[in-house]
Amino acid sequence: MIDQATVQKILSAADIVDVVSDFVTLKRRGANFVGLCPFHNDRNPSFYVSRAKGYCKCFSCGKGGSAVGFIMEHQQMTYVEALRYLAAKYHIEIEEREMTDEERQRQSAREAMLMVNEWACDYFEHQLHDTQAGRDIGMAYFRERGFGDAIIKRFRLGYSSETRGALYDAAIKAGFNRQLLFDVGLCIDDERGGGYDRFRGRVIFPIFNVAGKVVGFGGRTLRGDKAKYVNSPESIVYNKRNELYGLFQAKREMTKQDKCFIVEGYADVISMHQAGFENVIASSGTALTEGHIHQIHRFTENITELFDGDAAGVHAAMRGVDMLLEQDMNIKILVLPDDDDPDSFSRKHTADEVRRFIDENETDFIRFKTSVLLQDTDGDPVKRSRAITEVVKSIAVIPQAIKRSIYAKECAAMFEVDEQMILREIQKYVLAKRDADWKRREREKAVADATTPPASGGAAPSVSEGGAPSPPASATSATEATAPSFPTSTADAVERCERDAIRLVAKYGMCYMCDTTYDDGVTSPTTVVEYVYNNTIFNELLPGIVFTTPVYKRIFDVAMEHVDGFYAELEQYMATLRAEGDVEVSRQLASLDVTGHTPDSIDNEEKKIRSAVAKQIEDRVGEYRANYLERILCSSPDDEVRNVAYNLVTDRYRLSKIHSLWGSVATGVDRLQSLVSSAINVWMLALLMARTREIERRIDKVDYEQGVALMKELANVKSIIQQLSKQSGERVVVPR
Ligand code: CTP
Ligand code: MN
Repeated sequence: MIDQATVQKILSAADIVDVVSDFVTLKRRGANFVGLCPFHNDRNPSFYVSRAKGYCKCFSCGKGGSAVGFIMEHQQMTYVEALRYLAAKYHIEIEEREMTDEERQRQSAREAMLMVNEWACDYFEHQLHDTQAGRDIGMAYFRERGFGDAIIKRFRLGYSSETRGALYDAAIKAGFNRQLLFDVGLCIDDERGGGYDRFRGRVIFPIFNVAGKVVGFGGRTLRGDKAKYVNSPESIVYNKRNELYGLFQAKREMTKQDKCFIVEGYADVISMHQAGFENVIASSGTALTEGHIHQIHRFTENITELFDGDAAGVHAAMRGVDMLLEQDMNIKILVLPDDDDPDSFSRKHTADEVRRFIDENETDFIRFKTSVLLQDTDGDPVKRSRAITEVVKSIAVIPQAIKRSIYAKECAAMFEVDEQMILREIQKYVLAKRDADWKRREREKAVADATTPPASGGAAPSVSEGGAPSPPASATSATEATAPSFPTSTADAVERCERDAIRLVAKYGMCYMCDTTYDDGVTSPTTVVEYVYNNTIFNELLPGIVFTTPVYKRIFDVAMEHVDGFYAELEQYMATLRAEGDVEVSRQLASLDVTGHTPDSIDNEEKKIRSAVAKQIEDRVGEYRANYLERILCSSPDDEVRNVAYNLVTDRYRLSKIHSLWGSVATGVDRLQSLVSSAINVWMLALLMARTREIERRIDKVDYEQGVALMKELANVKSIIQQLSKQSGERVVVPR
């Protein structure tokens, strides 16, 4: 646990230029710094670092973040790990609290399992390296397989002794609960009050989740047992459908090369890594699931699957790949020479030979499938048309129409048939699939409607889907829960408006917007966040406007929570600036050359100096305000808030001129006022239009009285729209 004050201390100490410089050579360019992007193979410097804004961003691949975000991404650390890293770098002491017994007990089962797994991983490593049996049996086996010290350490390989309950006894002695050992699958209950070890007499391959936590183990027999591998059972920390062996060690290289190789087993991953191919992961002998794909998708869309050279390998290559295509992954297939698996192949050849073999032989999946099926037809027309259908089915699942048409062309050429014919066939399957998807969704909706009580209108929005919002999907899911009858396009429009408003909040939240006179007659300066709050919740024409997109709502809440703290810090900051300003004024006055000046003209000079210094202070305050909230949001512990906010403040200009983002924050108050108030007005209009459409849609389906009520509401909505349009032309925000 790191307390909040320390977190703030760390965040304010971390200088982005300094933090990034530890990994990237930076050169000054204007107000910013540039370097080669560490997240992709960059030839021209596209990685920009802005000290004033406190974040960095690659304008080619889009990666970057605040100091914490950068460390998380670059070092593949969790939020807390990144904070610890920065604390160490800036010599900030973190007060660690010992857990009380009660807290230890309260720790979730998940944490307890991760803890015992971590302990066991250590234990197995220790057995391998520091015991006679470990060295003689386990290490000898790894050596025979060609595993060197570095790779053994990196993958934390281990050994479990032959003794029936060696780990069980040691774990009990270390204070672990026996049920926990059974739950996590390290030991098996012997029904006599003791336990024996699942992995006894095996070499150990720990399985890490993407964050590097040990979630399970694979143990390989050394004696030709019937079960070559024994694996940890499923548990709350180990879901086989989601874990990929080696992902933790491979993910950085996967991002960097924007590509990964998928192999079958533990040894394949390790041998390939040892041969210098670090973007290699394994599905551990099972078919890839959608869960696996989602994991991979975070790092790359390009997958090459490696298969053994035998017939079984080729057949395996054909199965399961449609699912990958459907998820918009780019799939290549590499079939190894006869009798080789990636493990043996990478040990038989030099890295260059392996690389060359890959380059020359990896084949796009559709092309691969086409050529394999084509070979099998032997010119038989029936087989041939069946083969075409098979390929067409695979092409049809690809979500992108452009990709489909490229493949159609290629497939037509390979089968020597008319391209239009292929396209028509594809279209048939695409439509059939769309139809089936639609029916499935309707069915699901019907089930959901039947199981949720109808009167819960306005209930909490659906659980957020996690990750950055791909706008249409999250917009519909978010809005559907609160307003099930809104047509999607309207929901999209509302989400877009919300996004524009929240972007202004994220970018300029603490900037001065206007003065507001409240009900009690007090007038006070108002920031953008406060203004948005006042004019949505307390909107005069349409009270109660709130963000319906969950992550935007969270961003807004975080912003509001920081208003008070902001004012307090601003006051301190201004006091410092003023003191510095006074010093500066006296310094300049003292060095003023008074010869030839009259008292009046000296007065004049003094005024000039004072106003120049005042102007400097004002600029710095403006900059302080402009950067305050961005920094907080982009360093938020909430992954979704941090990522979405970062994209909001940087992405808009990704396709336009870099300079518009990295130029000065020269958004004058006037411009800010018109930006913010028009964003709110457009948002209101979108809500009103949605309401109008909703009423019009319902009005035919209700009885007379309800109809009259709806008509009244419609008239009311229309009059608000009118007032609003009238206003927006001449809307004046109380000027200072
Ligand atoms: N596997 C498993 N349980 C088994 C057999 C296999 O979990 N009983 C998984 C393992 O992840 C294994 C992968 O499937 O690594 C591939 O199996 P196989 O080809 O049989 O093993 P290899 O990886 O070739 O193992 P080795 O080289 O150690 O013989
Ligand atoms: Mn093998």
